[in-house]
Amino acid sequence: MDRRLPPPFVQQVQEGNDVVEVISGYVALKKSGQNFVGLCPFHGEKSPSFTVSSAKQLFHCFGCGVGGNLFTFLMKTEGITFPEAVRALGKRIGLSPPDTMESSREAKQRDRLRTLLQLAAGRFHDQLLTHASAAKARAYLADRQMTEATIDTFGLGYALAAWDGLMTPLIRQGWTPQELCDAGLIVRRSEGSGYYDRFRDRVIFPIRDLQGQVVGFGARVLDDGQPKYLNSPETALYSKGRLLYGLDRARAAASRTGCLVVVEGYFDAIAAHQAGLTHVVATLGTALTTAHIALLQRLAPKVVLLFDPDPAGVRATLRTVDLFLEHGLSASVATLPTGDDPDSFLHRYGTAAFEARLSAAQPLLEFAIERALACAPHDQITGKTAVVQALVPTLRKVQSRLELDHYLRLLAQRLAVSEASLRADLARSVSDAGRARPGAVPPEPRPLTTSVAAWTGEERVLLHLWVHRHIEADQLVSRLRPEEFFHPTAQALMRLIRESVESGETDPIRAVSARAAADDALAAAVAGLSLLELEYDSAEKAFEECAGKLRGRQLDEQVRQLEQARRAAEVEGNDQRVQELQTAILQSRRTLEVPPGSRIG
Ligand code: UTP
Ligand code: MN
Repeated sequence: MDRRLPPPFVQQVQEGNDVVEVISGYVALKKSGQNFVGLCPFHGEKSPSFTVSSAKQLFHCFGCGVGGNLFTFLMKTEGITFPEAVRALGKRIGLSPPDTMESSREAKQRDRLRTLLQLAAGRFHDQLLTHASAAKARAYLADRQMTEATIDTFGLGYALAAWDGLMTPLIRQGWTPQELCDAGLIVRRSEGSGYYDRFRDRVIFPIRDLQGQVVGFGARVLDDGQPKYLNSPETALYSKGRLLYGLDRARAAASRTGCLVVVEGYFDAIAAHQAGLTHVVATLGTALTTAHIALLQRLAPKVVLLFDPDPAGVRATLRTVDLFLEHGLSASVATLPTGDDPDSFLHRYGTAAFEARLSAAQPLLEFAIERALACAPHDQITGKTAVVQALVPTLRKVQSRLELDHYLRLLAQRLAVSEASLRADLARSVSDAGRARPGAVPPEPRPLTTSVAAWTGEERVLLHLWVHRHIEADQLVSRLRPEEFFHPTAQALMRLIRESVESGETDPIRAVSARAAADDALAAAVAGLSLLELEYDSAEKAFEECAGKLRGRQLDEQVRQLEQARRAAEVEGNDQRVQELQTAILQSRRTLEVPPGSRIG
């Protein structure tokens, strides 16, 4: 919530930013009538249902129901909190929150940590460029064909071959050993007391977050010592399962080309960028995680995996197949000749050859099928069975019927079996797993938030009338109570409206929207209603009609529940209770203003 930021500051930030401009940094938007539309970054889609309104300063996806204002958008895409989103957008227009409302201790510590890491990165970089003992590191990078410009762009550095080369000067500047330790820069001695530098005599790769701020380091030995790479430990800022190396620099190209390429190593990513292929990022010594996939998904609709051709690389690729499928996201796999990684391939064969490999990328599932086929000799029935068994868990995750058909046909051909028997095997395994009916296709991925489309027609119209200023908040509040609405989100919205009326807000729409922004479902609802286009002959008449019908529905529901209770009482033989319930039912029926036949669907 926004308890730490003063509302006037939030408002100032909101007014100083334009939602279309902000979202354009993430999604390619096209003008469509009064609005802008694009492919929703929050769910996979092929035709644009993601709508941004400049007039209303809101976004909404008619596909998955997600929506809100520019704060909500940033919170979702960057995975940050409301105050962080406000700050980031403030910074964008050169505003910072007034000092009196200082951020929490935690946020302050993170800020300090950021400063420290930036400082350390600067030292490492300066050392690489100017320190006498860094000559061998400079020679090493030159030998690996890194240009000075690249070294500069990526801020590469060198850690001195000493136990305290970083620690001593930083402590002299006033940093505490605890802070250095929290930043992952020094390590506590296991015996005795004291600390020592984590990175010594290594080339340093600063790792940055999406905003380009240093959050950690990777460090390579200069010879073939072990371990080849040392990396920052998990800290408040560094998490290898959430970060991708080079993503801050790949972002622009990703939104321009709609594609991101994932490689495995620091050198691989850097070599690609140096060759002008700036849509390349690297994992940080870990397989892709769900968080990575969510990140990739919202930055580019197309993902190409380019993992090393060694067995470990192939295994890593195969592990991600299921993850991608579970997210309903497609990816493809590009391969390189055995013995090459992207870095060596680029230097050996050049950019054009590399790009050709990328364009020849194969859909991930096809790759998985080829691999499974390559792993078992499948001219015998046992081999065929093994291949099918290996692929069944993956095939079961395919969400599109069309795609599943395609791959089953492919597999049937390659195994020289009938498609029908493959289907039967797949269906049996589904029912074996005690899941859905045999042959059933898993349901569509659940949208992130439920849209106002799930509301009853009446509650949608009533709140739509209010959002579009056809009726006043007090008119709505005096006519209907929140409990009379069905959908929990509609009820919550009604409660906010009631509170704003009761506290005498002059502009309840503005007040409610601001408070709704901090809650996913509410923000989506407000945005959904704002962008929903409904025509009214007479707003007053629509209001009266819907208010009446909504109450009618509630009474209907009440009667239904009473009748259920009466049946239960009848079964129990509790005659007195049956009588009481019967009276209550008659009473409720009498209050029904609208006959049950005439409801909006
Ligand atoms: P590689 O062994 O493929 O190294 O590890 P590389 O990036 O190609 O480096 P060069 O070309 O041999 O110098 C790929 C990635 O795995 C992580 C690093 O992120 C590395 O870039 N890794 C590797 C580690 O974290 N620790 C290690 O000891 C080795
Ligand atoms: Mn390499």
